[in-house]
Amino acid sequence: MLRYFTAGESHGEALVAFLSGLPAGLKVDQSFVDRELWRRQQGYGRGGRMKIERDIAHILSGVRHGTTIGSPISLQLENKDWKNWQESLPVNEGDPQRHKPVASPRPGHADLAGALKYNFPEARYVLERASARESAARVAVGAIAKIFLRELGIEVLSHVVAVGQVAIKNNVSWGQINDLYVQEEILLNCADPEIQQLMKTEVDKVLRTGDSLGGIFEVVAHGVPPGFGTYVQWDERLDALLASAVMSLQAVKAVEIGAGITAATSPGSAVHDEIGYGEKANFTGFTRTSNNAGGIEGGVSNGEEIRVRGYLKPISTLRRPLQSVDFSTREAVSAAYERSDVCVVPAAGVAAEAMVALTLARCALEKFGGDSMGETMRNFHGYREQLENY
Ligand SMILES: Cc1cc2nc3c(=O)[nH]c(=O)nc-3n(C[C@H](O)[C@H](O)[C@H](O)COP(=O)(O)O)c2cc1C
Repeated sequence: MLRYFTAGESHGEALVAFLSGLPAGLKVDQSFVDRELWRRQQGYGRGGRMKIERDIAHILSGVRHGTTIGSPISLQLENKDWKNWQESLPVNEGDPQRHKPVASPRPGHADLAGALKYNFPEARYVLERASARESAARVAVGAIAKIFLRELGIEVLSHVVAVGQVAIKNNVSWGQINDLYVQEEILLNCADPEIQQLMKTEVDKVLRTGDSLGGIFEVVAHGVPPGFGTYVQWDERLDALLASAVMSLQAVKAVEIGAGITAATSPGSAVHDEIGYGEKANFTGFTRTSNNAGGIEGGVSNGEEIRVRGYLKPISTLRRPLQSVDFSTREAVSAAYERSDVCVVPAAGVAAEAMVALTLARCALEKFGGDSMGETMRNFHGYREQLENY
């Protein structure tokens, strides 16, 4: 079974991640992992931290001579800022005068709920772990899941649908998303250049006013065969697994599969994807006139592209802070402010790609099994043949 964990504080020495359950014999291209980490750090509206850090995955175990060996993969991402935090956040007791308490909880963050839950007098430890810095570790293991999926012909990418009120109108094709992926500069990762400029203007507005923005990203998984996930048990449904994986990302407050949201207010005739039959393409000869289901029916992938949208609330840390209360005096104060992004929709899309890739890799391994890539691929090709002969 594919399992993964992350650990690490935002300003600690490093983030670490574990990925267990991948077959032996998968070639791991470390430069691909590092490019994925770079993609997560891009986008217009990011804070100062992205300028001081360039994440690099240091693989500690599970990969030897460039290939997986079946044992758990562990990796480390150094926090470049650690040198400035060693005295504020030491592992040992250190000098309490040098600690950096977060004196007033920031609305929209885990600060208050976390301090109450863990019985902390202030929110430093809460912020350190609840921060989306953690998503970098997920991107690193997600990149390895992507490398695995590529062997099966599956690719996972994302694009930005909306930043604040500015949204693209048309569907974005796989080709357009690929064009965005190969660019060496990422502005807002939007497929429509004119809309992208309008999105940038939205970000400029909040940069001026000390406010923040949310938005919508879409993750697309291309080349997924029919048969991932199942309707037979509630917790094995692919749509449920993907919704949970994407929702688990910081600031994601809603997840949509295919055209789920507009479908709720449309008649059935305008929603359900009609079925035809023609030339064999990809896996079978079955065709669809549309893909409002987002590639999943009854909790099972149906062979169409999987499309998952994540809806991000606006960033919680505001340069013009909201009202809060001092933890110790209980007096009304402005919420604490720490260097922050104002818009992270493209980066959240990259983190969500990792979550989708990890989910699909788990489903693939549940379906095809295998302790070595040879065994997994044999089983995959057997299933492909079964589909072709259906
Ligand atoms: C890639 C990414 C970067 C983020 N950067 C920031 C940030 O710089 N400042 C901030 O206040 N929130 C940021 N967030 C969002 C917060 O981490 C998140 O809103 C907060 O931890 C509360 O969790 P919740 O929104 O899931 O309830 C970011 C989210 C993502 C996905």
